[in-house]
Amino acid sequence: MKKLSIRELFSLTLEELKEEELLTSIELMTTHFTVKREKIEEYVLSPKQVSSYMLFYMPTNLPKLEFLYDELFRQNGLDFFKNLTELEFVDIGCGPGTFSLGHLLYLKKLGLEVQKICLVDTSHLMLLQAQKVIKHFFPNVSIRTEKNLNFHKNAKALYFFGHSLNEMNMQEIQSLFNEIDQLNQNEMIFWIEPGTSLFFKKAVELRENLINKKWNVLYPCPSLLSCPLRNSENDWCHQIVRCTHEDDVERISQKVKLDRKILPMNAFVFSKRDSENMVKFFPVRFLQETKFSFDFTMCLEADSANILVKAELLKRKLDKAQMKTLKQASLGRAFLNKNLEKQVKDYRIRDDLIRIDHNYE
Ligand SMILES: C[S@@+](CC[C@H](N)C(=O)[O-])C[C@H]1O[C@@H](n2cnc3c(N)ncnc32)[C@H](O)[C@@H]1O
Repeated sequence: MKKLSIRELFSLTLEELKEEELLTSIELMTTHFTVKREKIEEYVLSPKQVSSYMLFYMPTNLPKLEFLYDELFRQNGLDFFKNLTELEFVDIGCGPGTFSLGHLLYLKKLGLEVQKICLVDTSHLMLLQAQKVIKHFFPNVSIRTEKNLNFHKNAKALYFFGHSLNEMNMQEIQSLFNEIDQLNQNEMIFWIEPGTSLFFKKAVELRENLINKKWNVLYPCPSLLSCPLRNSENDWCHQIVRCTHEDDVERISQKVKLDRKILPMNAFVFSKRDSENMVKFFPVRFLQETKFSFDFTMCLEADSANILVKAELLKRKLDKAQMKTLKQASLGRAFLNKNLEKQVKDYRIRDDLIRIDHNYE
């Protein structure tokens, strides 16, 4: 998928910015995202900060969507994405339009056309910024904007939350999800949120509520059974996306001392429709590379729960290309294999039955 450079986005800001101002804004926003959370709402109130968010976080958040969509493609093929074109893409907490743009770019790469999207954000400035961005890259797509999510009974939609559930309280999210649940059978819910232990607690609760309402988890869980980490104090499930950026994005990242090449995230995909889930192992943690193996903790379906097992992928059974991809791999791509269940003994797997796809990278 196309990588964005800060250079090409500069013409799309709401207000002219000098590089010094961009650096100061990013530093201020980062403190609000991490340390001074009580001030988190402030960055959406000034044209300079909104523009800065767009310049820096849009190019560096996009690889998360690409990673998730690549994985959905690998597991479900092109038809999955053809179906998505029939759903309106509703981007809740769209910010500068990051994931709407990602959705449009990814489907375009697959030769698919998206007719319309809906941008939802409580910030008027973010909505202006998002419209400017989307119109620039996709002038023919029809755009609806809303400050609050309004539900249209017969609309078929994909509700996408990008780093916005994180800014909402549970009551607000539950009431949105209840409304979505009462629509029809075609809805989908996607989210890409921070890969923190704090958000994981929210994610586990939301996952259980949706499963109780008969939603399917298409990503990342191996099954709908309970999460093995749901009560864990120190451990949580998340994905780690490794990526590179255009030179000017790398340069700004270095100046503000933010590593945007290793991106932890919590992504989920839910569907109301039945789906045929392949038996899969989901790597939750890379443990270590030893002389003989690459060791992972993996989540997989056992008799009555999802469980965590230690998987040792023996080097002598891997070819050079597989070794290379495993060394550099992002974390969050499932290992797919229909016969795996039988191979699990004492919560350990040590054989070559984990098939590593050639496009596993
Ligand atoms: C961190 S930004 C994420 C922007 C974009 N989705 C991304 O990932 O790059 C969060 C956005 O959510 C918006 N937001 C927060 N609470 C919201 C709510 N209850 N409804 C709609 N938007 C909301 C904020 O105004 C902000 O633009």
